[in-house]
Amino acid sequence: MVIAIDGPAGAGKSTVARAVAEQLGFTYLDTGAMYRAVALAHAERGGEPAAVADQVQISVGERVLLDGRDVTAEIRTAEISKRASQVAADRGVRTALIAKQRAILQQGDWVAEGRDVGSVVAPDAAVKVFLTATEEERAKRRARDLGGADHASVMADLKRRDENDASADRTVLEPAPDATPVDTSGLTIDEVVGQIATLVTEAREIG
Ligand code: C5P
Repeated sequence: MVIAIDGPAGAGKSTVARAVAEQLGFTYLDTGAMYRAVALAHAERGGEPAAVADQVQISVGERVLLDGRDVTAEIRTAEISKRASQVAADRGVRTALIAKQRAILQQGDWVAEGRDVGSVVAPDAAVKVFLTATEEERAKRRARDLGGADHASVMADLKRRDENDASADRTVLEPAPDATPVDTSGLTIDEVVGQIATLVTEAREIG
């Protein structure tokens, strides 16, 4: 079974997806980490981003491995966040990573998190959730994740990524029509996880 958790930057996707995976005993797939790994490889090697995306071996799990090298920490810098959003606008990069993600999701039980999992990567996912939160709340969380970074610059960075993610010809910020929207502003993680667990129970009853 695949549970797709999509939504914009800072909506709480990774925290929620990890918690849902933990609670249900599913494996967590962080698709954003794959875009980040390609961004890092491209920053280091240059060339066509799509060619880099085709060539690299990416393994995501507890640690993120790029051609066998542990890049878990390196892909979390502000610089790589910006570059990830840029390479993700490249159609060839998306094609390459979507193929890799579909192959990964073929077998087993997954909580897959990203921006386009429910709409593009796994349109047949049994459960699709589109997480949102107010801009203010998203910036607050990101600042906290970054260890108390300056609120205004985090907000500006989020806005830039949203705009970049929404531009180009892609639909990454659009929910799949059959996704259940969940506004996480003001909710605890447990409350959000509880809502998703209910959706999973319902899907199991139907399926
Ligand atoms: O989720 P995360 O912030 O790690 O993603 C980094 C960047 O990768 C995003 O800003 C977005 O541009 C891109 N991305 C994407 N599609 C996904 C996951 C991430 O375009 N499924």
